[in-house]
Amino acid sequence: MSESTENPAPAEITEAAVTAAVTAALAAISTAADSAALKAASREHAGEASPLSRLNALMRSVSKEQKAAAGKLVGQARGRVTQALAAREAEIGAAEAAAKLAAETVDVTAAASTWHAGARHPLALLQERVADVFVAMGWEVAEGPELESEWFNFDALNFDEDHPARAMQDTFFIDPPEAHLVLRTHTSPVQMRALLSRELPVYVVAPGRVYRTDELDATHTPVFHQIEGIAVDKGLTMAHLRGTLDHFVQALFGPEAKVRLRPNYFPFTEPSAELDVWHPTFKGGARWIEWGGCGMVNANVLRSAGIDPEVYSGFAFGVGVERALMFRNDVKDMHDMVEGDARFSQQYGMTV
Ligand code: DAH
Repeated sequence: MSESTENPAPAEITEAAVTAAVTAALAAISTAADSAALKAASREHAGEASPLSRLNALMRSVSKEQKAAAGKLVGQARGRVTQALAAREAEIGAAEAAAKLAAETVDVTAAASTWHAGARHPLALLQERVADVFVAMGWEVAEGPELESEWFNFDALNFDEDHPARAMQDTFFIDPPEAHLVLRTHTSPVQMRALLSRELPVYVVAPGRVYRTDELDATHTPVFHQIEGIAVDKGLTMAHLRGTLDHFVQALFGPEAKVRLRPNYFPFTEPSAELDVWHPTFKGGARWIEWGGCGMVNANVLRSAGIDPEVYSGFAFGVGVERALMFRNDVKDMHDMVEGDARFSQQYGMTV
């Protein structure tokens, strides 16, 4: 039998040797303070080289007559130690779990020190305001895709093949070219989408994001917002357009606001006009401000939508949301609108 030099094995199984081994084991187990100490105690007092295991190994040399008694003595001793280990392991495990829970306690009711509520963007609030004005008149609110087919953005709106608005320097064309997709340059493609997806008459307003290849500076941004309106019904005239716009600007800017239409050209309206707004308390003083375009829906557009221009007529308009915020709320620099700093929005609260 191999014998450890530093821990000489007992020579024979005696009650005294077994009791000494058990006493030492129980003392080490009960004083183990954590699972690492208990593991060490287990190795030392119940492991292969422990006194009890060595006593057990001596069973081989015990005479036949004494085997039963010796076996009982050693077996019971080992059982007590194993039980004590299990009991202490459970105690230490419970204590360590409780300590971990206590250390990881989170007070979910504590006020966070670095969290700030976001704020809705004034551009979004302004678009909702406009939508409300039109919904109150019985119009519908529609949306169109920002990645638009060239046909809806240009062809359906009567733009010539070589119209300058189609040039690469004005429009983001999307690969592959044969897909004929563009980031819409205006909200006007929603006009055709509205006409194709609805029964007549149509009264639709469509706020949304549009894209042009402008550099960001104080008055330009490559991504901005417009609000489009289109009405197609029997007997609509320029007077209906004018009345609608009067109501729109007064609802948005105040009862003293005025509308001025200046003749202009747009391929999808005929006649077409530039739309100016005047208000006595505009930031920067009472003045006319160019705000968008409008006109009577071109007969070619109606025909593209399968509508007989002899029976139906319509008017349309498109205005810029950023521009409105600039002169209505005195925002001087476009950068403020795109930087996403909640403090910019917070100064408007819900008052835009
Ligand atoms: N889509 C034009 C633009 O982006 C604005 C516009 C002009 C819209 C005339 C209209 C309209 O509906 O009738 O500048």
